[in-house]
Amino acid sequence: MSIREQLEEIKQNGLRELENFADAKELDNIRVRYLGKKGELTAILKQMGKLSAEERPVIGQIANEVRQTLEAAVQKSLETLKEKEMALRLAKETVDVTLPGESKPLGGLHPLSIVQNELIDIFQSMGFDIVDGPEVETDYYCFEALNVPKDHPARDMQDTFYLGDNLLLRTQTSAAQARVMEKRTPPIRIVCPGRVYRADEVDATHSPVFHQMEGLVVDKGITMCDLKGCLEQFAHEIYGPETKVRFRPSFFPFTEPSVEVDVSCSECGGKGCRICKGTGWIEILGAGMVHPNVLRGCGIDPDVYSGFAFGIGLDRLTTTRYKISDIRLLFENDQRFLDQFQGR
Ligand code: DAH
Repeated sequence: MSIREQLEEIKQNGLRELENFADAKELDNIRVRYLGKKGELTAILKQMGKLSAEERPVIGQIANEVRQTLEAAVQKSLETLKEKEMALRLAKETVDVTLPGESKPLGGLHPLSIVQNELIDIFQSMGFDIVDGPEVETDYYCFEALNVPKDHPARDMQDTFYLGDNLLLRTQTSAAQARVMEKRTPPIRIVCPGRVYRADEVDATHSPVFHQMEGLVVDKGITMCDLKGCLEQFAHEIYGPETKVRFRPSFFPFTEPSVEVDVSCSECGGKGCRICKGTGWIEILGAGMVHPNVLRGCGIDPDVYSGFAFGIGLDRLTTTRYKISDIRLLFENDQRFLDQFQGR
C-alpha cells in the first residue's frame, strides 16, 4: 500500500471511530492513537524520508490535511460530548416544583400544658398575676406558715418527701401563698401553677408527682361571695355555662371556712357514668377563706384584710376533660398518646 493510500485509510478509519465512541476516555484514546506522538500518523510521516524530492511536498500536504481533518473531527466530537453531558446533568438536576414538600413532624403541647394554659388565660382575664414557686420548699412555707405546725395531725393528709429536717418536695402549690403575702401588699391576686409531690403509690388515679394551680386573693372586704363568684365563673368558662357547681363544707388548716368544689359531670350531665364514678359530680378543687393566722403570720392584719384561696387539681381536670382513663398516661410520654393532642 502506498503512503498516500495509507494516509487515506487512516483518515477513513479515524473518522469512523470518531463517530462511534462511548465516553470521554475512549475519545481521548482514539485521539492519541491517531494523532499522538506515537500515533499512526506520526509513524507514517517517519517514512517520508523514503520518498522522492517531488513526492515529499505533495504527500506532506496530504498528511497535513489528514491531520487537520482528524483534529477537527476530534474537536467536534468533544463538543458533542460536552453537550450530551450537559443535557444529562440538566435532566438529572431537574426539580419538579409540583411535587409536594417534605412534611416535617411537628411537636404539640402536652395535654396538661394545654389545660394549664387555658386556666392561666381564664385567671389572667380576671386580673390575676401568674407567680412561680420552688418545688424544693422549706417546711415553713409548705406547712408552718399555712397554720400546720410540726405536730399538727393535718400533716397526715399529705405524705411528704422530706429532703432533710427543714427541706421537702412541696406537697401543694399553697406553699406559694406565704411567699407572695410576705413580699406584696394587698390587693393581691395571684395564681401559681406547678408540680407537687406526695409519697403515694402509683395507680390509675395516683402519682407521686402531679400538678396543681394555687389561687390567692387578699384585699379589704373580700367575702365568701367573691370566692363563689370567682370559682363559678372559672368552672363555667372551663366546662361550659350549663355546668352546675356545688360547694361542700370541708376542712383545710389554712382556710376557715373551707369548701370543696364539685362540678356536674360534663360527660353524663349529672346522671352518673364511668368518668364521675356514678355520682354525677367531679371534684375539681379545694378552697376557703384565708385563715386569720395565715394572714397574721405574713404580716397582714386580718382585722383590715380578708382573702380567699383555692387549689385546683390539674391532672384530674385534664383526665376528665379528655376522657383519659389512667393518670399514668400523662407521665409516660408515649408518642402515640401525645400525638393525639397535636394542634389542640
Ligand atoms: N392545698 C390543698 C391540697 O393540696 C388544696 C387547697 C385547699 C388549696 C384549700 C387552697 C385552699 O388554697 O384554700 O389539697
